[in-house]
Amino acid sequence: MLILALETSCDETSAAVLEFQPISDKFQLLSNVVSSQVKIHSAWGGVVPNLAAREHLKNILPIIEKSTEEAKTNLEKIDLFCITQGPGLIPALLIGTNAAKTLSYYYQKPLLGIHHIEGHIYANFLKNNKNGSLNRHAFPILNLVVSGGHTQLILMKNHLDYQIIGQTQDDAAGEAFDKVAKILNLGYPGGPIVSKKAEEAKKIIANNKEFSQLEFPRPMIKSGNSDFSFSGLKTAVLYFFKELENQNLDEEKMENWKKVICKAFQDAVIDVLAQKTLKEVKKRNPKTVLLSGGVAANKELRKQLEKEIKKERSEVNFSCPELNFCGDNAAMIAVAGLARFKKLSKEKKLNQLKTNWRDLEANSNLQIN
Ligand code: KG4
Ligand code: ZN
Repeated sequence: MLILALETSCDETSAAVLEFQPISDKFQLLSNVVSSQVKIHSAWGGVVPNLAAREHLKNILPIIEKSTEEAKTNLEKIDLFCITQGPGLIPALLIGTNAAKTLSYYYQKPLLGIHHIEGHIYANFLKNNKNGSLNRHAFPILNLVVSGGHTQLILMKNHLDYQIIGQTQDDAAGEAFDKVAKILNLGYPGGPIVSKKAEEAKKIIANNKEFSQLEFPRPMIKSGNSDFSFSGLKTAVLYFFKELENQNLDEEKMENWKKVICKAFQDAVIDVLAQKTLKEVKKRNPKTVLLSGGVAANKELRKQLEKEIKKERSEVNFSCPELNFCGDNAAMIAVAGLARFKKLSKEKKLNQLKTNWRDLEANSNLQIN
């Protein structure tokens, strides 16, 4: 069985082909083409929805063609089309959904709409050697999803069964990284730059005591629930930086301070994420903890979270996607689509074919369920 998935919810245009072998119950990723628009949006300091849509429109057909070519197949052979239905930027989502609906109608094959966060979670079922299985992780699974738009703790007792047990009350973790980078004039997207500077700060702090004192607040760390808040932390960075700017420091010192700020900020984010996740590990006794979303590419977060979990519960399996599956990509949508398709009855599979190309609508506020 061949699945073609598309993802256009934000600033990546992506198409992937996944092959599922029912006999072995395993799947193989045949292609995953991702075209990033980062260069275009960085000039604006963030994603501009209409610009993103224009680029998706330009790219979507060549990307689909490339994905089938790389998979050594063609569109006639695809058995199921999957598309990110939401949440995301509506002009961007519309390009992908319309392309997928057209393919489903033209080739008379079923179409499934997938929740973007469901996709991020299912990226964990892929392996870099491209083989995967939906049996890869044991339930119950506690998910920490950290992206540019979401920060959530989601408990799964089984496939496609989601219970949101905590989420951010304001900014998402990735959004906070992006905003801190903007405050410090480091460019867009912030996550990779801030984490690089944070790494460089280690040496500076080791060599100079002056820098070792900086610590930012850990918002809501003792709130008693599993919700998050990152907007106050970003404001703390803003005030601290403004204070520095008033001191007319020389260029080298300012650059060093920026790195130290990045580390102190990242430490605070990681501390809150790890402590909140740990609290739920103790309370819910999951067999597996999965990290996912764009911020899951943060090496320090991966390391710290695993260390904390293993220290508390050595029997819990911890996993995160390979780095190339952390950010937005269509492979994760294909895996989630496979999980959904496998659960449908024969009748529903046919229904999906008859109606979804007509009824499916992009939804920027789609809820996970
Ligand atoms: O999942 P994603 O690609 O898109 C959304 O669904 O939002 O996540 C993008 C976010 C951005 O905010 C970006 O700054 C952040 O992930 N990010 C990182 C790192 N790499 C990307 N944040 C922290 N550390 C990183 N290494
Ligand atoms: Zn995402």
